Amino acid sequence: MSTESVGSPAAGSGRLFDITRAEHKADPFPLYARLRKDQPVFRAKMGRMEGWLLTRYDDVLAALKDPRLAKSVRQVEGAVEQSKRPWMPAFLQALENNMLDQDDPNHARLRALVHRAFTPARVDRLQPRIAALAGELIDGVQARGEIDLVRDFALPLPLTVIGELLGVSKKDSVRFQRLSQAALLPPTTFNVLRMLPAMWALTRMVRQLLAERQVHPQDDLLTALVQVEEGGDRLTVDEQVAMVLLLLIAGHETTVNLISSGMLALLQHPEQLSFLRAHPEQIKPAVEELLRFANPVETATERYAKEDFVLHGTTIRRGELVLAVLASANRDESQFPQPNELVLTRTPNRHLAFGHGGHFCLGAPLARLEAQLAINLLLARLPNLRLAVPAGSLRWRNTPVVRGLSALPLRVGP
Ligand code: HEM
Repeated sequence: MSTESVGSPAAGSGRLFDITRAEHKADPFPLYARLRKDQPVFRAKMGRMEGWLLTRYDDVLAALKDPRLAKSVRQVEGAVEQSKRPWMPAFLQALENNMLDQDDPNHARLRALVHRAFTPARVDRLQPRIAALAGELIDGVQARGEIDLVRDFALPLPLTVIGELLGVSKKDSVRFQRLSQAALLPPTTFNVLRMLPAMWALTRMVRQLLAERQVHPQDDLLTALVQVEEGGDRLTVDEQVAMVLLLLIAGHETTVNLISSGMLALLQHPEQLSFLRAHPEQIKPAVEELLRFANPVETATERYAKEDFVLHGTTIRRGELVLAVLASANRDESQFPQPNELVLTRTPNRHLAFGHGGHFCLGAPLARLEAQLAINLLLARLPNLRLAVPAGSLRWRNTPVVRGLSALPLRVGP
């Protein structure tokens, strides 16, 4: 990427660089290395939104727990700004109740309630089922000459797992997937309009499922969300719906990228791939390194300045958007020796791929387990796996927040 393509850092410039562009997604690391060095607070666009990128490890870490930054935009808006907000249908407003967009004390309250429903024991119990699902998906592609790893494996695996965990049927989960992909399109006016009917149908479906669980409880997360109670506190129906959608989207739109971009990284580093194939017991540190290296989530989600403050000489004004760039922190040379090398046994490896602080990824144990089982099975059962196209021609999705391939064509046979 040339220096000219990086927009002017001046606020309000029409030439701001858009970090959702597919060309940027393909290799964002050289830009972030320059920004860490020269412009650690950099003004850029994320689709329609505009704000400040923080790229240094220490700044990212600090931002993720900085009390001057709010998750909820409503916290930083005055009455006048709120009255100027564009109209939003009630069913979408309800989704703002998701905990990732909330600050304490409400965030802590929601997280405590769902954490009880989402226990590590529940995740551990999934191990045989995840291995079986991964095995079935490999059975389906083993005899084929060529596959798309995203479509045929990396997407259906976490989608089915989160669907089963929630208690959503296979048929409904395909619909969920289509709709959640729409939710992660760059938020242009056109896309928002396209999304509305889909989101309406999705929230209606979730409400129906939750209502059914009220009457006929089952051994699933939907039922746990309906029943969860602590100290007399419960989730409202809007909060239950927002929670289901958050778990559904966060539960597969991220892990798909860890499995597919992680496999791409291994295929591009044959000596590391051979090492892992020979030492499957090293899969835990290997997945941590793939998280650091591939960055399935490129930036943390939105945070807004509650007050004016100055960072590295740049004034960040109250109400402005701040994005902590996890993908940059994870390649920061001050924290990781040879940050651009893939070293599966890297220790220590204090990557920030799952965030940090109060919003640290609730699904990290599940994501880790899925990737560990999936990657080891792929390597063991498909020994001839290789890229079917030159790496330079791979297409990356132009999404905010997450970073992932549209498709990963691989050859399977000898
Ligand atoms: C490789 C896979 C994954 C990655 C890299 C990832 C990354 C992240 C990150 C960076 C955050 C914090 C965002 C921020 O602070 O702005 C987060 C939050 C969250 N993640 Fe994940 N995630 C993954 C998989 C999952 C899975 C499988 C689930 C659910 C089953 C999940 C559920 C959540 C939830 C509910 C939150 C919000 C937590 C809160 O607000 O307290 N994630 N994730």
